[in-house]
Amino acid sequence: MMTRKIVPQPGILDIDLYVGGKGHVDGMSNTVKLSSNENPHGACEKAKQAFRAVAGNMHIYPSSDHAELREAIAQVHGVDADRVICGNGSDEIIAFLCKAFAGVGDEVLFTEHGFSMYRICALGAGATPVEAAEKDRHTDVDALLAAVTDRTKLVFVANPNNPTGTMVAESEIARLAEGLPEGCLLVLDEAYAEYVAGFDGHLSLVEDRDNVFMTRTFSKIYGLGGLRIGWGYGPQEIIDVLYRLRGPFNVNAGALAAATAAVQEVEYTEKCRADNAKWRDWLVAELATAGIPCDPSVTNFILAQFGSEAEADAADACLNANGLIVRQVKGYKLPDCLRITIGKGADCKRVAAVLREFKESWQG
Ligand SMILES: Cc1ncc(COP(=O)(O)O)c(C=O)c1O
Repeated sequence: MMTRKIVPQPGILDIDLYVGGKGHVDGMSNTVKLSSNENPHGACEKAKQAFRAVAGNMHIYPSSDHAELREAIAQVHGVDADRVICGNGSDEIIAFLCKAFAGVGDEVLFTEHGFSMYRICALGAGATPVEAAEKDRHTDVDALLAAVTDRTKLVFVANPNNPTGTMVAESEIARLAEGLPEGCLLVLDEAYAEYVAGFDGHLSLVEDRDNVFMTRTFSKIYGLGGLRIGWGYGPQEIIDVLYRLRGPFNVNAGALAAATAAVQEVEYTEKCRADNAKWRDWLVAELATAGIPCDPSVTNFILAQFGSEAEADAADACLNANGLIVRQVKGYKLPDCLRITIGKGADCKRVAAVLREFKESWQG
């Protein structure tokens, strides 16, 4: 029998597997997971109730048009429900965008320390991922514009960014949108927008322009990471294209019900935002006095900087030994840093105490 080599599409074998935040330490229970930027308070009560209510109807297919959720999003965020698309996490929206607008020979541009799904989804679509340098772990619009070619089809910018936690001014994002050539779409990944007081996720830019798209998630402040649900918003022509790729039942019934309840619980969201800001700023100040600097984070995580990769490794091991799981970010070209999700107040106090003691005894 003739053997035939079965080969995947171009780019697929260049994908490095996504490395998620660690969830446990071998041989240890009672650990605190601060490695995936989850909301330590979980989802609001109404979202939990809505999810439980779906249990009796699990044999029924979910809504295919997501109308109820899109309507709730529209009311809360003041957007047009017809231009909202829901996805199995915002990851799925990122994948739709790459598949729809970038292919072999095209380039997908993002920043040096940008979220790893941009590269994965670009390669998955057969396109070429291109990185632009950041300036002191901040998005550098000049570097992005300089990296644009006539093959650039998509530019992904998370503002605020993960894993740096930093954010650049809207005027810079507007300058980027203005400077892109025709046929190139700017995607603003707003997974952490809700953590910034009074910030609309650059919604006005999306509304004013025909080359800007926004992605949002329910995985972070809404505490629904386990259900996988996010959404995208942009020009009607872009949405119409993405809908052609969306599976009819891409979001499950439990996720839809919980997200519809969660987005309307504005007070709970605000409480989580304020609690996060309080403990984030406290932890940054504590670490600074312990000799561990962090960039000014506007998100629900901080990027703690150590003197070397060896020191960051040792700090990570020390946190683990004390039941605290944070995120190494070597894959993001930040080998001497650790990304630490802001947990509850007591978790932050434990992190501060462990790292202070570590720093005092470190002799690298
Ligand atoms: C910047 C950024 N974008 C997108 C996502 C993906 O979120 P989702 O859970 O909605 O797929 C994350 C998750 O960590 C993220 O940090």
